[in-house]
Amino acid sequence: MPAFAVIGAQWGDEGKGKVIDFLAGKASVVARYSGGNNAGHTVINDSGSFGFHLVPSGICWPHTRNIIGNGVVVDPDVLLKEIADLKRAGLNVDGLAISERAHIVMPYHVLLDKLEENRKGAGALGTTGRGIGPAYIDKVARTGIRMGELLNPEELAMRLPDIVNHKNEVLTRIYGASPVSIDTILSKIQAWAPKLAPFIKQVEYIVEDSLTRGENVILEGAQGALLDIDHGTYPYVTSSSPTVGGALTGLGIPPRAFGGVIGVFKAYCTRVGGGPYPTELNNEIGEHIRNKGKEFGVTTGRPRRTGWFDAVAGRYSARVNGFDSIVLTRLDILDGLNPIKICVGYELDGHRIDRFPLEGGALERCVAIYEELEGWPGTTFGITRDRDLPKKAMAYVKRIEALVGAPVEIISTGPKRHETIVVNDIFQK
Ligand code: IMO
Ligand code: MG
Repeated sequence: MPAFAVIGAQWGDEGKGKVIDFLAGKASVVARYSGGNNAGHTVINDSGSFGFHLVPSGICWPHTRNIIGNGVVVDPDVLLKEIADLKRAGLNVDGLAISERAHIVMPYHVLLDKLEENRKGAGALGTTGRGIGPAYIDKVARTGIRMGELLNPEELAMRLPDIVNHKNEVLTRIYGASPVSIDTILSKIQAWAPKLAPFIKQVEYIVEDSLTRGENVILEGAQGALLDIDHGTYPYVTSSSPTVGGALTGLGIPPRAFGGVIGVFKAYCTRVGGGPYPTELNNEIGEHIRNKGKEFGVTTGRPRRTGWFDAVAGRYSARVNGFDSIVLTRLDILDGLNPIKICVGYELDGHRIDRFPLEGGALERCVAIYEELEGWPGTTFGITRDRDLPKKAMAYVKRIEALVGAPVEIISTGPKRHETIVVNDIFQK
């Protein structure tokens, strides 16, 4: 029963969309397991250029079933727009299926996200402002609304006043904001229900049946391990579990179903939003990487904070997730830089540490210790065979492999599907 989890190994934006679109050619199902439309996954192939927030990145393959799992929080307006955009691009989205149990991001969640960020002022987390945290809060508080409830709008209409009245108390009394209108929300629900009903299914059984038939299933991660609510750089994290555990609970599959865990790393680091970041480059090299790599958020357009590859964080991420394989993306962005640095340890309070610190506030005090590697001549852009890579580029890849402790099996050398080097077939392991 080969399920392959594709997991962001850093702070998100590692190129998961491109990698999943590439791998989905050999998969029957692509199932997203966590997060919401805080994600932004860029996919460029023969069908066009897409920026997905909720629809899984396997949607461009006609033979691949795309699923949104119970662990995801869904903003119906965003999803409907994505479905409409895909149809306009001539793609068939009939096979898309959304778990009955996925929670809905409601308009008041989006308001609360922004109000809470404003309230925090200088201590704001830098969320995407998409209502993701508040939607997960309601899920855990057991006051959320699930996709399956759209199949029974009358019953939901009866439940809604109590929920909305409580939100209005919070909006008006805590934040001094205007209340939301129950009627406006009801009419939204009435508009969503018939459009989304055909997609709402018991997706757990679709995934299970595919696994039982021995087909490849890709478990699509969003965000990254270092943004994980438990294992990330709390409180500067997202409100879900992007790490491997989230793939199990976010789709309801057993560990035995796994064929492999794939970590997607960018050849350098980026982070968007607040939080500690030892390898951050606040200089012209960081600026160069940002401009060359077009490191601006797909979701919010914010400039991403750029930095050198952090192998301490990478090794930690590999440990938390148990990576069997690494996919290394955006190698071409480092073309022409010399030297290239890799963070191999931290100095914390005058001592060298080699392991990612777990205690709160420690990462803020860590100073990166670097190893320097020589840059390579020419360009790696668009290369499709590993033997065509400059020797020094391969040396950089091999150094990352050794430091992180998992083999690099795919190297991405450009944003398009075919701009990819397959070192080893991940599905054949
Ligand atoms: P993909 O799937 C990068 C970050 C936000 C913020 C923190 C919390 O494209 O890799 P949230 O809105 O989730 O409450 O914000 O998490 N963040 C991401 N950063 N890529 C993402 O997704 C992200 N999703 C959330 O910037 O720092
Ligand atoms: Mg992204």
